[in-house]
Amino acid sequence: MNALYGEVARRRTFAIISHPDAGKTTLTEKLLLYGGAIHVAGQVSARRRQRQVTSDWMALERERGISITSTVLAFPYAGCTLNLLDTPGHQDFGEDTYRTLLAADAAVMLIDAAKGVEPQTKKLFAICRERRIPLFTFMNKLDRPSRDPLELLDELEHVLGIEAYPVNWPLGSGDQFRGVYDRRTRALHLFERSAHGATRAPVDVAGADDERIATLVDAPTFAAFRDALALLEGAGAPFDATAMLGGAVTPVFFGSAVTNFGVQMFLDDFVRMAPPPKAQPLLGGGSIDPGDERFTGFVFKIQANMDPRHRDRIAFVRVCSGRFERDLVVRNARSGESVRLARAMRLFADARESLETAYAGDVLGLANPGVFRIGDTLSQGDAVEFPPIPAFAPEHFASMRNVDTASYKAFAKGIAQLREEGAVQVFEPLHAASYEPLLGVVGELQIEVAKYRLESEYNVKTAVATQPYSLAMHVDAQLTAVEASHLPSSARFVRDAGGRIAALFENEWSLALAREWNPGLTFVPFGMDDAAA
Ligand code: G4P
Repeated sequence: MNALYGEVARRRTFAIISHPDAGKTTLTEKLLLYGGAIHVAGQVSARRRQRQVTSDWMALERERGISITSTVLAFPYAGCTLNLLDTPGHQDFGEDTYRTLLAADAAVMLIDAAKGVEPQTKKLFAICRERRIPLFTFMNKLDRPSRDPLELLDELEHVLGIEAYPVNWPLGSGDQFRGVYDRRTRALHLFERSAHGATRAPVDVAGADDERIATLVDAPTFAAFRDALALLEGAGAPFDATAMLGGAVTPVFFGSAVTNFGVQMFLDDFVRMAPPPKAQPLLGGGSIDPGDERFTGFVFKIQANMDPRHRDRIAFVRVCSGRFERDLVVRNARSGESVRLARAMRLFADARESLETAYAGDVLGLANPGVFRIGDTLSQGDAVEFPPIPAFAPEHFASMRNVDTASYKAFAKGIAQLREEGAVQVFEPLHAASYEPLLGVVGELQIEVAKYRLESEYNVKTAVATQPYSLAMHVDAQLTAVEASHLPSSARFVRDAGGRIAALFENEWSLALAREWNPGLTFVPFGMDDAAA
């Protein structure tokens, strides 16, 4: 055991996954308040409001300028260092949202208890599931009329396929919301609408059928509460921490972020139960332990600042082992080059602080223009490499045409740069007469951002034609077999940037038809086996 292990054991690196409006900004703000990282409520919401203003270019610029500064929120709590990785949502939703999850050791799944599992939650959950990330569920907005909590658990199990273990249980919801009952300690934590965030000593009760609980709510609410708990206790599987660490079981907490109820209880359990950084598997076998003396890390995100006054690109590196110190010299496994990490930043709110030391689980912001790409491994000493970051299935497509043929070179360079950065995926027709790339993205806004950046950074005007596809599949077959095949008229074959053949479809139905017509072709979903092209 070396001193590094002490630091590693204190790290909790996590992201919040949710559907827009579930309360992510609100919960983030409350977590930061508990961490002492902000002192007044409203700092984060102000950012959100600014974010919501979008669609004109100035706003887009502002928005990018703002989100760059809030990518990682590091704050102390209960002797631990928490790194909350901000997963871009709303209009910002894109591959970065997915990639950020690759840098997290745990995720908080935030659900609006009136709505249950929503589409964006499902998409993000799928990535966590694939990586077996431990998931903590926070059912939010109990102060509003909510769905039956048993039904919400059932949805986790049947829609997402994850076993749910309620750590606490709500007493009523909306007008009848009186608090949560901790199943382990048999204590009732009372909710007081008027006392925002005030903590009160919990009331010890004899059990879920304690008469004192009955006096707090109307008869049907009490009956539902008592029966649900009897059912849960009867079903009786004890909490399985190992299954949770493998992502098979999620502990569930109920609360109300905006009124600050249940957040601290959640945070206390989260810090206790969430795992510290663990060993990271290496390409070609073996793994690196987080307490290994050698520094290792990988680039999971590159953020280009759209603000012309600070036109820099920041590479975000998740530290996997060792200790980062200023001026550390590391090797980039892709290029084989040595890089001195002279200036690393910690980004918080509107400030960029320089970061002097960092350990496994921490995130460095590096402003080395052009040196890094998504997925790069940085290491000290012997060359090691982490597995490539997958390319996520794009859902929006647009072809891009260079309006002024004289700027062809700049256009091609700009597209190549955006691709290398991981901002877009680029496809080309199988047999192209001219260079007219097809961009594929996870979030619609990324097309607009690409057009804007081509214009502002490369001085290239483009014409964008949105394409009707929503589904991309790789095709495992020889070119001759592909050329001899037949797709529905709305679908087409393309090549990805790595030269692999892919097919683009409007919908599942069109794909099903293609499969039926071409039994000799294998259509493979974009997924975890793919290197980011
Ligand atoms: P997001 O980042 O996930 O999109 O959600 P955000 O926190 O912005 O919350 C969306 C709306 O839900 C906000 O209301 C917020 O106040 C509200 N909200 C969050 N948590 C709770 C909760 O526990 N209970 C209730 N009742 N509401 C909650 P808004 O009216 O859209 O904005 P604002 O004017 O309150 O900022």
